[in-house]
Amino acid sequence: VAMLGDSCLKCGLYQGCKSPYMSGHGSANPDIVFIGEAAGAAEDDQGQPFVGPSGKFLKESIQSVGISLDNVRFTNAVRCRPLDNKTPTNTQIKCCAPYLVDELTAHTPKVVVLLGNTPLKSVLGLNGISAYQGTGCIERDGIKYVAAYHPAYVLRQNNSTTQQDWVRSFGDILT
Ligand code: URA
Repeated sequence: VAMLGDSCLKCGLYQGCKSPYMSGHGSANPDIVFIGEAAGAAEDDQGQPFVGPSGKFLKESIQSVGISLDNVRFTNAVRCRPLDNKTPTNTQIKCCAPYLVDELTAHTPKVVVLLGNTPLKSVLGLNGISAYQGTGCIERDGIKYVAAYHPAYVLRQNNSTTQQDWVRSFGDILT
């Protein structure tokens, strides 16, 4: 939904990117919605979430546990690319949260996967992804949430402990 609400005026990120208000992409009736942080360079360029290196790694990980990409949807906690790929501020996260809530309400997934601290804050109001990833399913109001590291973090860390945590999170999605 491309639109410019009061919260967009307050946030301002729409002014600095090529593909503002980027919608989610994927199944309209998904089993699982994966929520990232915000669009990166490749996403802003192509106007679609998770089409860059993080997205490639994420999609390979999803398929490696036997989940078809046909049954999932990808979106972001913040719909515009932050300048210099900065981590979104709490204000930016809050300004964008209503759009994410609308998307989750419209698509009613069975499981919501929170990739990193930004969607963890936006959706569950929790802070500190390291403490919440690997804790299995978090159930709230009949919806299952799984917290996982952000794929860019896993790629950057490039160590076996982080990779094992990442794989375990994908196991939790299936339980
Ligand atoms: N691509 C996205 O769309 N979101 C992220 O958080 C990272 C890469």
